[in-house]
Amino acid sequence: MGNVGIRAPRNGSAITVIELDTSWLSACLDLDQRCLRGLWNEEQWRRELEEPQRLCLGLIEGERLLGLACGWLVVDELHITAVAVDPDRRRCGLGRSLLDALLQRARMEGARHATLEVASDNTAAVGLYDSHGFQIAGRRPNYYRDGRDALIQWCRLTPTG
Ligand SMILES: CC(C)(COP(=O)(O)OP(=O)(O)OC[C@H]1O[C@@H](n2cnc3c(N)ncnc32)[C@H](O)[C@@H]1OP(=O)(O)O)[C@@H](O)C(=O)NCCC(=O)NCCS
Repeated sequence: MGNVGIRAPRNGSAITVIELDTSWLSACLDLDQRCLRGLWNEEQWRRELEEPQRLCLGLIEGERLLGLACGWLVVDELHITAVAVDPDRRRCGLGRSLLDALLQRARMEGARHATLEVASDNTAAVGLYDSHGFQIAGRRPNYYRDGRDALIQWCRLTPTG
């Protein structure tokens, strides 16, 4: 995905968006543990990285995975399943770049809408999605293990070209 390469806002070194494959499995597991409270186990991550209907993009700096964004393509919808940025590198625009790249990739695959669920008190993620035009379409009470509600959000994707 050469056209979505970006520059690191902090130290000027190159940060690139790539399509992740299984060579990034342990890095995904590690970032998941640090950012997403262990969303998926190793087998689930392997599936995520292998199956063609699943998009999984990473932001890398050298050999280091700084962030990831994943989603499933279902007909003309992108179901976003995970977006995470290394805690040491937040608030530098990396989450925005990742989400831009994921939505752009989904458009190229023919997606016309994107949807996701996000914890209602996740201010950072809600702010990120809001800034990309996601709107709240509903709420699932007690959706998460700790009793938090989930907001269901949708966004219409304008076609490329
Ligand atoms: C959500 C997350 C991916 C944002 O990554 P990030 O790189 O810090 O985000 P960015 O710097 O690109 O910020 C983009 C926009 O998101 C919003 N945002 C990000 N962090 C925020 C915060 N702490 N508080 C409020 N808004 C925030 C803002 O609208 C921001 O735009 P601005 O900088 O112009 O104000 C990151 O906080 C994260 O990994 N959180 C843990 C995992 C998670 O909850 N993922 C989402 C559920 S799947």
